[in-house]
Amino acid sequence: MITQYDGMERQFLTSPDILDRLPDNEATRAWISHLESLGPDIPTVSLFDPARMLDDLLDLAVPHEDIDAIIALTPSPERNPDAWRLLERIVAVINSRMGEIDNAPTAPDLPGDGPLARYFHVYPLLALKPLVEEWHGQRCIPEDISRRTLVDLGRNLAVHRKRYGTGGISLHQWLQLHFRGAIYQLGRLQFQRWKLGETSGNAIRDAGHPAEPGGFALNVHITDFSGPMRPNLCSASFDRAREFFPTHFPEEPYRVAVCHSWLLDPQLADYLPERSNIVQFQRRFTLVDRERKPMDDVAFQFVFGRQASEIDTLPRTSTVQRALIDHVRNGGHWHGGSGWLVL
Ligand SMILES: CC(C)(COP(=O)(O)OP(=O)(O)OC[C@H]1O[C@@H](n2cnc3c(N)ncnc32)[C@H](O)[C@@H]1OP(=O)(O)O)[C@@H](O)C(=O)NCCC(=O)NCCS
Repeated sequence: MITQYDGMERQFLTSPDILDRLPDNEATRAWISHLESLGPDIPTVSLFDPARMLDDLLDLAVPHEDIDAIIALTPSPERNPDAWRLLERIVAVINSRMGEIDNAPTAPDLPGDGPLARYFHVYPLLALKPLVEEWHGQRCIPEDISRRTLVDLGRNLAVHRKRYGTGGISLHQWLQLHFRGAIYQLGRLQFQRWKLGETSGNAIRDAGHPAEPGGFALNVHITDFSGPMRPNLCSASFDRAREFFPTHFPEEPYRVAVCHSWLLDPQLADYLPERSNIVQFQRRFTLVDRERKPMDDVAFQFVFGRQASEIDTLPRTSTVQRALIDHVRNGGHWHGGSGWLVL
């Protein structure tokens, strides 16, 4: 997929550069500095093959209502030289971290707010698909796990539509984890190869387990649009993780898992019955005491696809919906929570 083709390098060096027009902020500076560390000869991406693109989009579970727009807007070096150059560089930066655990710097957005800007981050991930599949193959990761992991791209287009009412991707920093081999969907739950931070590492060690800041841990995530998180499904996912990681990443000893989520806010148990899936999920983890900042919008986004400021217009159909609304109406805040468990 990635080839060097003549002429592009000269164009990179001589034409006015999109990098000079990106917003000047810390994230962009970190990303440019990583890009520069790769040297001047970054590989160029071959043109998207229209014959293959539909298959790839379907394989990635891209919602059907987004497919026409994504195909129609496909950038090319002639039609959108700026978008194309940015795309190639984003691919180069993510690919330079293929297989690594530590975060890659956040890729910049395409300046502007039109449809191409909204869909833009689909294209680097499409270009990375064969590269990460090859990497999965080297790790002998079964094809069905690879496929079910990468379909989070399509799911996140659905999440964008739920939140903003339009097609696009807003969580591209999250999705680059999938396309560089850092995260795996194993049944109901996703498991990210991760290293413990100070607070969690110290808490687990103080509880008498062999862990420390910087040590290996699996970071558990719960996908949207995947049905209830029934306890038996979650247990089956943990069982699969206990087998998957020693098989495919034997050099990374994962003895603990962590979770950082709105679902681990202990206040939820004041509103939900003990039998609720969320409460039963909470009971698996030992909560970590950490600074508690209000994050109402995170919980509201996951439940309603809306901000907490829209509270007066939101439905009160389910127990969680009523809990989120009543707690904030009564002057409370949702803080989320962090927890750990021994695998
Ligand atoms: C995580 C999730 C699967 C939990 O749903 P669940 O398994 O049904 O959880 P519970 O059994 O505890 O639900 C208790 C009640 O709240 C409702 N509920 C739970 N999550 C809800 C949601 N996101 N939207 C609306 N209602 C929800 C349930 O339908 C149930 O309602 P009822 O008591 O009126 O019948 C669900 O919230 C979800 O899909 N969330 C989006 C993904 C997410 O939040 N991921 C975490 C990212 S950090």
